[in-house]
Amino acid sequence: MFAKRVKEIEPFRVVEVLDRAKALEAEGRDIIHLEAGEPDFTTAQPIIEAGQAALGRGETYYSQAAGIPELRQAISNHYKLDYGLSIAPERIMVTPGASGALLLIAGLLTNPGDGMLMADPGYPCNRHFLRLVEGEGQLVPVGPEDRYQLKASMAADHWKPNTIGVMVASPANPTGEILTREELSDLYDLCASKNGHLVVDEIYHGLTYGEGAPSILEITDQAFVINSFSKYFGMTGWRLGWLVAPEHAVAEMEKLAQNLFISMSTMGQHAALAAFEPETRKILDARREEFAARRDYLLPELRRLGFDIPNEPAGALYIYAGISKFSNDGQQFCMDMLENHGVAITPGVDFGHHRSQEYVRFAYTTSIDRLKEAVRRMEAVLC
Ligand SMILES: Cc1ncc(COP(=O)(O)O)c(C=O)c1O
Repeated sequence: MFAKRVKEIEPFRVVEVLDRAKALEAEGRDIIHLEAGEPDFTTAQPIIEAGQAALGRGETYYSQAAGIPELRQAISNHYKLDYGLSIAPERIMVTPGASGALLLIAGLLTNPGDGMLMADPGYPCNRHFLRLVEGEGQLVPVGPEDRYQLKASMAADHWKPNTIGVMVASPANPTGEILTREELSDLYDLCASKNGHLVVDEIYHGLTYGEGAPSILEITDQAFVINSFSKYFGMTGWRLGWLVAPEHAVAEMEKLAQNLFISMSTMGQHAALAAFEPETRKILDARREEFAARRDYLLPELRRLGFDIPNEPAGALYIYAGISKFSNDGQQFCMDMLENHGVAITPGVDFGHHRSQEYVRFAYTTSIDRLKEAVRRMEAVLC
């Protein structure tokens, strides 16, 4: 009755966990939310005020398919200030979240039957976007020994006749792992040697707790880069992201965007302009410090409880933790934690197939006090 592709697109289980957690809360239960990958902070006040001002001015019409010129320029300035890079605003397209950018890239690059290599575990929607356009995500198993990242040598080993490129995220979801400059450069060299594409999802840039994450744009202007206002900028509900494309790809992407989206939220784009203002950046950087403090608290505590976390996740909002000491069924483990102990976490199966039942993902998107309470509840049952 419905198209075949729909059967092959799996549900995003974290949303199901979130729904169940909300249902339990509605029954009066106290649930600690460590499942959703979104900052718990409300959008910073200067951004909200800029959005309100835009509405007050009547910015309620469609805008350009590639985004309002002021915002493309502001993103270009951001690359100059934060990375020392000159990225022409013409190469920057504003999109409806990183999700919109992923859809555009899938539509632009994929012929039916084409495949893109990606890490397993990884962000699950990537392979579903490819499936939507009759392509496939070619999952490459990665583990703690690879810092859960897809490296060039592994991509070379898994490259098939129908492979058209590699898609990575750095920092990654669900592991928080970062690709070094050299690893990015090797990936780019591999893709170039195969006439393939390199797509780098940099949505968690700005949320790093050590040296920072290098951008592929420091290495080449021929990769596709995805970014978003959702995470560091704390604007998940506004649905705004961006992509940086090689110059020759922009006109065709814009054509796709015209058809798929017409435009992004116009008032949202005017609000996002305020995201780059120094006073906003101060707020966002303070929030990053708060995330760092939460990570620094939770990581040793989870290890103490017996979760297996061999590496230090250096970015994003997540800790990907092995549960072999407690269970070989991550879904059951998460269900039990939620239903019986009021701690909502995401099963590893949400992020791929490779040993995914042996893992769960903790998102440190709640206060340290609540993290302490989660640890207390888990300690009572696990230790
Ligand atoms: C790696 C990655 N890419 C893309 C997205 C989509 O984000 P958005 O559409 O909110 O920008 C997410 C959301 O969690 C993500 O983790």
